[in-house]
Amino acid sequence: MESMQITQLDYHTARALLEWQVEFGVDETMSENPVNRFEVKPEPKKTAPVAAPPKIEAGIAPVADKVDGAALARDVAMAAQDIGALKTALEGFEACELKRGARNMVFADGTFGGRVMVIGEAPSRDEDRSGLPFTGDTGVLLDNMLKSIDLSRAETVYLTNVLPWRLPRGADVSEADLAMMMPFVERHVALAKPDILVLMGNVACQAVLGKRGITRLRGQWGEAMGLPVISMYHPEFLLNNPAKKREAWADLLALKAKLGVTE
Ligand code: URA
Repeated sequence: MESMQITQLDYHTARALLEWQVEFGVDETMSENPVNRFEVKPEPKKTAPVAAPPKIEAGIAPVADKVDGAALARDVAMAAQDIGALKTALEGFEACELKRGARNMVFADGTFGGRVMVIGEAPSRDEDRSGLPFTGDTGVLLDNMLKSIDLSRAETVYLTNVLPWRLPRGADVSEADLAMMMPFVERHVALAKPDILVLMGNVACQAVLGKRGITRLRGQWGEAMGLPVISMYHPEFLLNNPAKKREAWADLLALKAKLGVTE
């Protein structure tokens, strides 16, 4: 019944109707205007959703409400024909939420085309500020480790991380973020063409080898992306566990020996 009709009712009819409702148990009014719960509303016309496929141009990743981030990353990364294009593509990649919480994207440092490519986990606070991988305390230790076997960023080593953006404080790396970033890492490796890959810590091992357990994996040679790969303790772990530097030293010697062989 419409509110207009009610206001037009005479006093006695309106009262009789109200009493009738009270008899049925109505003891409260919810709003000024009555709501007809039996009304059948016509269904809104359905129009078929038109999902335009994301258009990939070199270096530009489109933003979409619901995108398959990993698939988009593959397309975008594969479209990059050189290292500059890959960096631009990553800068324009909007599907990874981590980007929104980061100050800077951390892409790479060191010698592009160097014989050794180090893959770390993700920028920490220092790297998020500097925009370069391994620039904090972990970077100092890493540089010393490399120097001990005559390697350096300046001449022989190229550095990157699996994740180019800092993780929120206390957050773990998610499988989804790894899946989304790995196409970029793979393309990065393919363009840098190192002789050897060094995986620093569990996250890099999980991303590249699909395995965790750095205590077991460290010092072992494997193969990934068509290259020899060695896993090592992450320098941050070594800062907190200095007794493990002995094993790290053995792994560095194994790296040095392998470089001699592959020379
Ligand atoms: N830890 C990493 O794995 N990478 C960095 O760049 C810094 C800290």
